[in-house]
Amino acid sequence: VLIAIDGPAGAGKSTVARALARELRFCYLDSGAMYRCVGLLSLRAPMRPPGELAREANIELAGSRAGSARGRPGETSAGDRVLLDGRDVTDAIRAGEVSDAASRVAADPEVRRALVARQRELVARGDWVAEGRDIATVVVPDADLKVFLTAGCDERARRRARELGSDAAAVLAEQRRRDQRDRARAHGPLAAAPDAVVIDTTGVDARLIVRRLAELALGASASG
Ligand code: CDP
Repeated sequence: VLIAIDGPAGAGKSTVARALARELRFCYLDSGAMYRCVGLLSLRAPMRPPGELAREANIELAGSRAGSARGRPGETSAGDRVLLDGRDVTDAIRAGEVSDAASRVAADPEVRRALVARQRELVARGDWVAEGRDIATVVVPDADLKVFLTAGCDERARRRARELGSDAAAVLAEQRRRDQRDRARAHGPLAAAPDAVVIDTTGVDARLIVRRLAELALGASASG
């Protein structure tokens, strides 16, 4: 079973996707963490073609180890660490400049080709909640359940500012820039799949969203 959750920055994807994976005892894939890793590499090596960096990078997501796909569900969700070439970059990839670099390299078709291939490999076995921008449209177009989460700009910026402990106005500007870039790119743009369930999370408790998605997931796995 695969549940795809896409949406813009700060729409609550990570919170909801992690909690849903925990509840359903599915594995969790944070595809954004992969783009963030390549963004980090491109900041360190600005002269290297990002596609090359993406192909060479060894990205390990604690929540998505192939071995845990069935064996040890549940433990895949909380406090996931991200390893890049063996180093823990969990916190480093959340920096503002890395968010920006991630959305820049994410427009590169070579980067997308490399990362989409890895994402498909990961989710080929086991049950998954995968989140990103293009999961339902490109990575797994035959996902059992497709969800597109949105929220008002101000609320999205407020949430992210609270998480990062930074200024809401600055976060708002950064998110706008990134969302525009993510929507406008030719390859794998941020977009809802035609058959996605669109949920506006503005003012809604994440627990309610998780409950609703768990119900939808049960329906989808029963009928699929
Ligand atoms: O957490 P947040 O929504 O702010 O971002 P993220 O999911 O960590 O993704 C960071 C950046 O990676 C996005 O702005 C996109 O440009 C890119 N991304 C992508 O292009 N495709 C995905 N499936 C996931 C992320």
